[in-house]
Amino acid sequence: MKKFAIPDVVVFGDEVIDKEHQAIVDLVLGLERFSDQCNKNELETHCDLILSTFENHFVSEEMLMAKTEFPGRNQHCSRHVKILGTCTGLLESIIARGQAIENDIMNLISRVIRHMLMDDVAFRDYLHHIGHLVPPSMGEGHSRV
Ligand SMILES: [Fe+2]
Ligand SMILES: [Fe+2]
Repeated sequence: MKKFAIPDVVVFGDEVIDKEHQAIVDLVLGLERFSDQCNKNELETHCDLILSTFENHFVSEEMLMAKTEFPGRNQHCSRHVKILGTCTGLLESIIARGQAIENDIMNLISRVIRHMLMDDVAFRDYLHHIGHLVPPSMGEGHSRV
């Protein structure tokens, strides 16, 4: 499978967040190997890993929001709850079907990328604005704190 790099427009310049975003995208696109006949246990393990990676990422993003007193925190956190619910449902239906068809993968990846573009970017811009992060184009992608 060809690796899909997180678009520059959503790069935070924070090593942890950027790695987590890339891991989520890789795991969701990794469902492709379960598009035909596949081992159902492996599929279930992979789906569980996707969910726990989502959850861990949301926790680390929300901790950073609390630490930096991001004003849009409550709304962003409720979006996390919503996306987690939607993706849990989608992953459950993939497990029930015993395979991940292209439509499932597109459905999941579009939700993930949309959240990054619509919500995470606002948080990223806030972090740059308050000087918590140096924009990648100005620095080397390292946090100042
Ligand atoms: Fe987020
Ligand atoms: Fe995120």
